[in-house]
Amino acid sequence: MAEPSDTVKHYVQENYRRLYRNGTRRDMPIVQGKELACRLGYDPRIAEMVPEALWTRFFPCGHPLRWVPMDMPPGFCLLNLGAGVGLDMFFLAQGGTMHEGCLINVDISLEALSLGKTLQVSPCNGHKRKSTRIYWMQADAEQLPVRHETVDLVLMNGVFNLFETKENLLAEVHRVLKKTGILLICDLVRTGPIPPEWGSAPEGWLWCVNGSLEEGDLRRLLERAGFAQVEILSRNCEADPFWSEVVRARKMSFSQGYSSGTI
Ligand SMILES: C[S@@+](CC[C@H](N)C(=O)[O-])C[C@H]1O[C@@H](n2cnc3c(N)ncnc32)[C@H](O)[C@@H]1O
Repeated sequence: MAEPSDTVKHYVQENYRRLYRNGTRRDMPIVQGKELACRLGYDPRIAEMVPEALWTRFFPCGHPLRWVPMDMPPGFCLLNLGAGVGLDMFFLAQGGTMHEGCLINVDISLEALSLGKTLQVSPCNGHKRKSTRIYWMQADAEQLPVRHETVDLVLMNGVFNLFETKENLLAEVHRVLKKTGILLICDLVRTGPIPPEWGSAPEGWLWCVNGSLEEGDLRRLLERAGFAQVEILSRNCEADPFWSEVVRARKMSFSQGYSSGTI
């Protein structure tokens, strides 16, 4: 018999595949797509470059990009886990302010990756953009085909809460991060119990509700996984008791003896 976590995992993966195949309906009574992106603070000029087919497949929990350091050293490596169609990395690359490095979109859904690849970063003012390259990788975030300590930053936007148990995921992220590495999680955090109408609905797993944690539990989980300097960078109130938060954790604290100077 399947473990409970396998059941949730399978449910989440299959339903996201379906969402990528079909896209969301535009008549749903919620802000979505480009309007949602602009409301969250994504650059509206870059948003104009994204075709509608990708906007109906954009499922962020917030806008964590302002917390990605623009001064990462040349040759940096950034992993976007559960990237979907990769719009976060597109906004970073098209913004064009980072050094030369690589942005890797990782997702379990081939449907998402295939669609995302159709969007190319455009040259800036007629010059070929040399700064950042976008790569695509189909992989399970709990088993990354990535070498130990090679990644500068791992981003998860609306992904962390999809995992019923998060220990394996965090161990894998910790393994691939360099000693100076940073984890950025953008997801729902709650101030009280999950409302029963959500808790009993399987869709609660898809929309990051049923896998949400309270702030203290999230902090303790990250620290148990070996992360240091856990900080809440932003909090936006969603429907009570949920907040959309950006949380940063470091593989090692400054006091543990590294001196990067950059991130
Ligand atoms: C809520 S969506 C977020 C997508 C993207 N970050 C965005 O902002 O549009 C969650 C994504 O996680 C992916 N996902 C779910 N389970 C995964 C796993 N075990 N490994 C990798 N990706 C996974 C789904 O396919 C989906 O693309």
